Amino acid sequence: MTRTDFDYVESESPGTGRLDPRAALTSDAAVFSLDGDWRFRLASGLTDTTEGLENPDLDDSAWDTLAVPSSWQMTGLPGETRYGAPAYTNTVYPFPVDPPRVPDANPTGEYRRTFDLGADWPATGRTFLRFEGVDSCFAVWLNGIRLGDGKGSRLATEFDATPHLKAGENTIAVRVHQWSAASYLEDQDMWWLSGIYRSASLVHRPDAGIPDLFAHADFDHRTGEGTLRVESDADGRVTVPELGIDIAIGESATVAVEPWTAETPRLYDAVVASGTERVSLRIGFRTVKIEDGLLKVNGKRILLRGVNRHEWDPDTGRTLSVETMRRDLEIMKRHNINAVRTSHYPPDKRFLDLCDELGVWVIDECDLETHGFVHIGWKGNPSGEPQWREAYLDRMRRTVERDKNHPAIIMWSLGNESHTGDNLAAMSEWAKGRDPGRPIHYEGDWDSGYVDVYSRMYADHAETDRIGQKTEAATTDPALDAHRRDEIPFILCEYAHAMGNGPGGLSEYQRLFEQYPRCQGGFVWEWIDHGIRRRNEDGTEFFAYGGDFGEPLHDANFITDGLVFPDRTPSPGLLEYKKVIEPVQIAISPSGQTVVITNGYDFTDTAHLRFTWSVEDGGEGTASGELTVPAVAAGQTAFVEWPEPLRAAASPEAAGDASGERWVSVSAVLVKDEPWAEAGHEIAWSQTQIDGAAAAAPTRSTTEAVVAGREISLGAATFDALGRLTALGDIAIDGPRLDLWRAPTDNDLLGWGGNVSDKWVTREVGLDRLEHKVLDVETADSGLTVTTRVGAASTDLAMGAVYHWSTDTETPGRLWLTVEITPEGDWDFVLPRLGLRAALPKTLGNVTWFGGGPGEAYADTRAAARVGRYSATVAEMQTPYVFPQENGSRIDVRWAKLADESGNGLTVLGAPDFAFTVRPWTTEDLAAAKHTHDLVERDRLYVNLDQALQGVGTASCGPGVLPQHRLHAAATSFTVGFEVPVR
Ligand code: GAL
Repeated sequence: MTRTDFDYVESESPGTGRLDPRAALTSDAAVFSLDGDWRFRLASGLTDTTEGLENPDLDDSAWDTLAVPSSWQMTGLPGETRYGAPAYTNTVYPFPVDPPRVPDANPTGEYRRTFDLGADWPATGRTFLRFEGVDSCFAVWLNGIRLGDGKGSRLATEFDATPHLKAGENTIAVRVHQWSAASYLEDQDMWWLSGIYRSASLVHRPDAGIPDLFAHADFDHRTGEGTLRVESDADGRVTVPELGIDIAIGESATVAVEPWTAETPRLYDAVVASGTERVSLRIGFRTVKIEDGLLKVNGKRILLRGVNRHEWDPDTGRTLSVETMRRDLEIMKRHNINAVRTSHYPPDKRFLDLCDELGVWVIDECDLETHGFVHIGWKGNPSGEPQWREAYLDRMRRTVERDKNHPAIIMWSLGNESHTGDNLAAMSEWAKGRDPGRPIHYEGDWDSGYVDVYSRMYADHAETDRIGQKTEAATTDPALDAHRRDEIPFILCEYAHAMGNGPGGLSEYQRLFEQYPRCQGGFVWEWIDHGIRRRNEDGTEFFAYGGDFGEPLHDANFITDGLVFPDRTPSPGLLEYKKVIEPVQIAISPSGQTVVITNGYDFTDTAHLRFTWSVEDGGEGTASGELTVPAVAAGQTAFVEWPEPLRAAASPEAAGDASGERWVSVSAVLVKDEPWAEAGHEIAWSQTQIDGAAAAAPTRSTTEAVVAGREISLGAATFDALGRLTALGDIAIDGPRLDLWRAPTDNDLLGWGGNVSDKWVTREVGLDRLEHKVLDVETADSGLTVTTRVGAASTDLAMGAVYHWSTDTETPGRLWLTVEITPEGDWDFVLPRLGLRAALPKTLGNVTWFGGGPGEAYADTRAAARVGRYSATVAEMQTPYVFPQENGSRIDVRWAKLADESGNGLTVLGAPDFAFTVRPWTTEDLAAAKHTHDLVERDRLYVNLDQALQGVGTASCGPGVLPQHRLHAAATSFTVGFEVPVR
């Protein structure tokens, strides 16, 4: 073996000995799976590789075994890794940028196995060796003969094995290199993982079979007819029994059909048969066009309510089971998501079958990203270098050829973050020629010379608004500018970075998408946190992120920025997104006693939905029923009068004596089971308050505060000599005092594009270490007044905080506290929160509240918060962000009771409401923690009662908190009540 034997590793060439790419087809031709255990050895570099790896006689009995498909770095997890370790970088290459060269320290996996195709394997025809995905570069031998080599980690590769196959035992050997020239083209923001991580197989190709085909299935919305034509080099017939179609390959048939859309994924089973092979297809008839400057399917503008999906599993990395793929789509569909961008590579082919079946619009993206060149000013970026042309075209061909028969795919994407260059333009040109039926997407081409949609990422609301109005800044070339401005639609291929707590500002984006026809929606970044399940020393499981495997260069938790946690539990961000993009809008008018229902679907009417109403009084249901709504056509609105039972239930007479706030809710649920959700699953909802004051105004008594030694008592309350509440009844309390800090969120910390977070995040203003100086404690007939100055070391900024305590005239055991706040000095930064913090006995861990819920909500993430009565344990009220940060605040809480197991405890009352957080650890603990297992419960509960919190925004990558959701220091006052039962 010489060094030149490895030339392919550092060659720009996409591979040698490979067969032309073709569609992934379901055929009755024989398939032999090579999945399962292979012999495996990890070499540290090329000089450490095995001489004679390909030799069938090589004794590999001492080698370990490794499963195909898998990535070798994931082996051994969640315990100890066995072969190298995952490593995470976002944009930087984890090796010197010197294309096409890669480091000598190039971990190389050597795989071997034997197989016997058996006596039944067809004796005629050919047999292809097929790899669905090998990361990043490999060479393959069969029975000692080299078949070739390949690159393109997320693309299929086939070799002709026929001449070298034997009856009986065959030996296959594969050498997989972690780094190769191809690594320069695969700089996606994800873990670097290697190996044969998708399935491998031998597939029989019968003589006179159907190696490839391209099914064109258009739909003419004017006639309601579909036209099917199957293009193939093979001879054979195409039948669609349900449609009575029986035509030759190459012929077309036009018949009345039900079209395929993401809302109505109507598929027709078809068979394409030659004399020797039958291929099964699922045909969806639809036509995608850019027309009138809009992206239209079947003649209609569609609105993309999308997500960017990487393939991820916390235990197996990018090797996914079909169940996991289905689960992703089920969760998406249940949360009103209708589109997926396969960021940033073609997914496992089975995922696309599921997209066809369950119904989502797909942008299928080529496996291409050269982002790391940005750090050297895009010098030598492969996108513009002729020696990479073939690799670019090869990747595009393999993307389109494999996936061309999926109705779900409505656009091809050239790749991601690879700047601009002729090679990209060439990919586009090739794809348009091969498949005129699908527009081309690529975000990096802002001038939009070779794309069919103007695509951007993280444009803020204001810019999106300008784009909607077509008043955005001009591009360099006037002709391109005119094309972009007038002829093509706009999408945000990435927006709303779902990292940690957030994303905030989704509602405001959605309004823009609804307002401007040109803005056809977007794809939230991203679907899932790529956390890796690990165990710490004491066996506690947690999700690892960049740096947790000792990588010298990494991008920390930027890898955990999904709408679902690594274990696919929906995050609050997903619940918010579901509400914001709900396809049906419901507006309840108490004055008109009507419900206005607007159908925001693009195609379907509302016949698949059942509408229900309910009336709640103080969070207790008093009546409910059905709302008869005629099927509302797509884009139409219906006005429905309240039915008599709802009128009666909502009438003033129906309000009981002890009436609290009364609310009417209307909900739209599935009539019947869908493949992705059961009947009764809620799609949309709305609620409106009909009456009841938010909360009774505090009635303050004139109870005297009494000083006794070092204590002060007032009604049921006991204070220390400095006027701090120490007990209420027999509940020990570390009394409430002003709190202005929160554990920074990812969005606070990363503050993107200059809207950096703030002086409070950098801690320079010391909100995290406030000192409370008591200036005066005044006991009077009407209660207790404590005057304080709250400031931090090193600064003279301060808040005057005056606490007025009094009892309640009507309710013994109740106290009112009004806090008056006066900023002193120049508070030229936003406040993360403004409120009170107290500590309570740990036993009060059962919480019931009336207000927003059930999940967390902040000023700009509150669409999904419903007013109601909720119960949860303190543990359940924590949101386990992979990187711990502020979480769990409930909004608009009118009252909250914290009780022990027997129901005794303390009630906090709003006047009218407050934002409510309770945790078993402090804010400081939360801010110091790097992983969930760093959070250790203390022996107290820590409660925050906030007048307001700063919004969340999405500045970890994108716009910060919108002005209307920012919290500024200002003179203010707020009131809360505390109540304990009196003995
Ligand atoms: C984009 C990129 C994504 C991801 C995101 C931030 O620029 O396309 O892959 O890195 O930023 O999470």
